Amino acid sequence: MEEINASSLYSLMGGETGIRTLVDRFYDVMDAAPEAKDVRVLHAATLKQSREKLFLFLSGWSGGPPLYIEKYGHPRLRQRHMPFSIGERERDQWLWCMNKALDESDYLPAVKEHLKTRFSEVADFMRNRSEGLQI
Ligand code: HEM
Repeated sequence: MEEINASSLYSLMGGETGIRTLVDRFYDVMDAAPEAKDVRVLHAATLKQSREKLFLFLSGWSGGPPLYIEKYGHPRLRQRHMPFSIGERERDQWLWCMNKALDESDYLPAVKEHLKTRFSEVADFMRNRSEGLQI
């Protein structure tokens, strides 16, 4: 398979429909799985806005229409996550939900692997709580 680049990723993810499906599955998993309870409680009672914003973001992030930027400006993702305490546990639970949603998707295996790697990098970057021993 040819190398996955930013402009091809959007179509490899199935464009708008494919990305919405992935995001919906991701938040359905987060909403229901006891394994994700610590990351779920950080979110609002309804995940409607989270679903919409993650879809808008991933559209541009994958090389498609920059919908998030058009609506909200520069994502500044790390800064926007600062109000939430994110450590290894929250990072790992977020990734667990996303990896499950990816495993259940009909994306090509190479696309799944590519996305898992990239999401794990972004999620790790979002950590803002040190796990060090507090003395
Ligand atoms: C590392 C673990 C992560 C945690 C615990 C987390 C948690 C959250 C929370 C609590 C919100 C607010 C949503 C609400 O109030 O309902 C949010 C917003 C958002 N998250 Fe995450 N997130 C994580 C990783 C990521 C990653 C990896 C991405 C992108 C690939 C991402 C993209 C977004 C976007 C685009 C928003 C909307 C920002 C805004 O406009 O306010 N998040 N996240």
